[in-house]
Amino acid sequence: MLVEKNVPLQSSNSFGIVAKALSLVRIKSEADIAAVLQDPALQASPKFVLGGGSNIVLTGDVKPLVLKVEIMGRRLVSENAKAWIVEAGAGENWHDLVTWTLQNGYPGLENLALIPGTVGATPVQNIGAYGVELQDRFDSLDAIDLTTGQPFTLDAAQCAFGYRDSVFKHSSTARSAGAQGFGLADKALITRVRFALPKAWKPVLGYADIDKKMLQSKVDMPDALQIYEWICEIRKAKLPDPQVIGNAGSFFKNPTVSLEQCEDIIQREPKIVHYRLADGSVKLAAGWLIDACGWKGKSVGNAGVYDKQALVLVNKGGVSNPATGGEVMTLAKAIQTSVYERFGIRLEPEPVVV
Ligand code: EPU
Repeated sequence: MLVEKNVPLQSSNSFGIVAKALSLVRIKSEADIAAVLQDPALQASPKFVLGGGSNIVLTGDVKPLVLKVEIMGRRLVSENAKAWIVEAGAGENWHDLVTWTLQNGYPGLENLALIPGTVGATPVQNIGAYGVELQDRFDSLDAIDLTTGQPFTLDAAQCAFGYRDSVFKHSSTARSAGAQGFGLADKALITRVRFALPKAWKPVLGYADIDKKMLQSKVDMPDALQIYEWICEIRKAKLPDPQVIGNAGSFFKNPTVSLEQCEDIIQREPKIVHYRLADGSVKLAAGWLIDACGWKGKSVGNAGVYDKQALVLVNKGGVSNPATGGEVMTLAKAIQTSVYERFGIRLEPEPVVV
């Protein structure tokens, strides 16, 4: 096992923020985790699991031991009457997996195309886009307990998925721990994820951007590959490519309010973009709230608000003069304050601040 020292992380986080891992071990297999946990110098040290770095803001050098997950592999592991079960190593690139499943005739992940990051990170925040969430296609995952070294498997219920949420985002002591009352934040390393891809596939439509593509192309029965291509085009037109402009996707979650609260806001702000949820509550478009406060295109230092989608914060300084994590967080706090002052709504950041 090689412990690398002072490893630059600029190319390992999608914001492109400059920071170092003081110590880093590359995890290419379960055996590499066992080696770390059996090493007397490392077993008790705090650990930070790094995947594709697409959902983090680095505010300084990372002091805990960084476990950089590079477990690879994609295969069909089984099938039943309803679904193909595809397994991928946690270190695989998410979009490459989506492409691979479609090329091999296993549809179902097409609405989640082009989401940056690695496979292992997808259940952590239950990624979602265009009417599909990871939990809709999830079968199970394998992980290793970072305290005991024990491997374990979780099904969807045990992952306690919610909107951009799972048991991996909560600590065991937090009041907000997952449905089972326990949390696995910083306690587990996800090694492999299995997806159940439906044999009776049906397109998930109903989003304005997809409807527009159907009208333009006059295709009214799109197959999975067609939807994949549309989603790639939609995302490319609206969201910055992290290879070109550093970012971490949507920076805030879309907040949920009660119907009464929403009606109250609508009286003051008739144009507010909102969606009724099945449980009677209402989801508000955070991008609209931020946009309405005039933030599009504004910046703090080299951290800016993307001019085509106000929910995305970007690194305007590129690789040579990148934004700092401090600038990103100052900008984020200023946005939270102004949205709170105007709408009385607290926006919750999506990425993990390290
Ligand atoms: N809007 C504005 N101004 C803006 C941005 C948005 O008025 O600057 C309005 C739009 O016109 C639209 C509404 O807000 O009416 C919603 O915008 P959009 O369709 O772009 O979706 P979103 O709610 O901002 C969510 C996800 C995205 C996902 C899209 C599509 C969250 C936090 N974000 O964005 O996920 O791709 O829906 O399903 O739920 C991500 O999580 O990183 C991400 C990109």
